[in-house]
Amino acid sequence: MATHKLFILPGDGIGPEVMGEVEKIVGWFGKQGVASFEIERGLVGGAAYDAHGEAISNSDMALAQAADAVMFGSVGGPKWADVPYSKRPEAGLLRLRKALGLFANLRPAICFPALAAASSLKPDVIEGLDILIVRELTGGVYFGEPKEIVTLEDGQQRAVDTQVYTTSEIERITRVAFELAKTRRNKVSSAEKHNVMKSGVLWKQVVTRIHKAEFASMELEHVLADNCAMQLVRWPKQYDVIVCDNLFGDILSDVAAMLTGSLGMLPSASLGAEDPATGKRKALYEPVHGSAPDIAGTGAANPIATISSFSMALRYSFQAIEAADMLDKAVTNVLASGLRTADIKSDNTHVIGTTAMGAAILKELEHLAR
Ligand code: NAD
Ligand code: IPM
Ligand code: MN
Repeated sequence: MATHKLFILPGDGIGPEVMGEVEKIVGWFGKQGVASFEIERGLVGGAAYDAHGEAISNSDMALAQAADAVMFGSVGGPKWADVPYSKRPEAGLLRLRKALGLFANLRPAICFPALAAASSLKPDVIEGLDILIVRELTGGVYFGEPKEIVTLEDGQQRAVDTQVYTTSEIERITRVAFELAKTRRNKVSSAEKHNVMKSGVLWKQVVTRIHKAEFASMELEHVLADNCAMQLVRWPKQYDVIVCDNLFGDILSDVAAMLTGSLGMLPSASLGAEDPATGKRKALYEPVHGSAPDIAGTGAANPIATISSFSMALRYSFQAIEAADMLDKAVTNVLASGLRTADIKSDNTHVIGTTAMGAAILKELEHLAR
């Protein structure tokens, strides 16, 4: 049986609460003999800052580098509002993404049939929804230099962030988007703003060239990112795969989250390039949501985004497709039974907390395994 090194970083706020439920599910799959998981745990975000003054330590970075997959909870919160910029909790996540080369962030937005009524949108707009946002994750305005606040001669301050993309960065994320669309409905929508941004001009050119040269039989459409945000709430089912830069992907995926009913439902996978020698790729799995300071400590957080992120780890890092399908089915069945965390409640449903939701999914896994 394969042994997989799993490095768990629960983080701050609701991160440790939802990760606790994932750990039980990991343990269950281990006991079932699906795989053997060698688990290490570390600190990230405010928790790491409190322990050793950095958003992630070098030794935890080394464990992340050595892992087959990292499971990440969430970071941040008001407690760390005044820590120096380079040590803020979010810096730990950005360091992981950059150092591990996790350039491809997959954010699927699926509307579970039972949740069509939980969305703030009309059921017919989202019923059957299954779209995938492919967000470039190691470039753009998140990492471009200069990035600074300088004081001018007249005493004013001037803040600068730099949006930068190179041809090869756009090429590789474009290929990821088309390869994934091949396994879905063969359509890629590329969102940028070539009307105001030079990086948008290059983005559009490169996506067009790669499409023509390598994926000409598939459908490509270009959409301005602001229009894409509007289209996502107007008629999201027009999309299959949306490919976009780091910042647009951040914003569009929060919009997409609400199509599924809640930010508490959206998982993600952040993947690096395949190592040609081993066929392996670095990977980190995390919910799209943050540390939810407003509900942290109340036991009300929805663990499904993080549980479904582990399902993506089973699929993309451990090639345990049957186990991933089973976990997805368990989530679907529990939702169909009417159990809900507060963020996805609707009429005639029964509201439960984080641990009860984790337990219900585990029980359904037991049932499916019989
Ligand atoms: P957030 O995602 O933490 O919360 C936004 C809203 O969604 C809140 O009302 C919250 O209660 C709700 N929500 C989020 N996840 C939920 C869940 N699992 N179940 C139920 N409700 C849920 O975003 P924010 O409030 O803008 O940010 C809070 C902190 O989190 C900030 O410090 C931010 O930088 C950080 N953040 C971290 C990550 C990450 O670690 N990957 C992602 C986003 C934001
Ligand atoms: C996300 C988050 C992060 C981002 C923050 C916490 C750095 O919002 O993963 O969506 O902006 O990428
Ligand atoms: Mn975000």
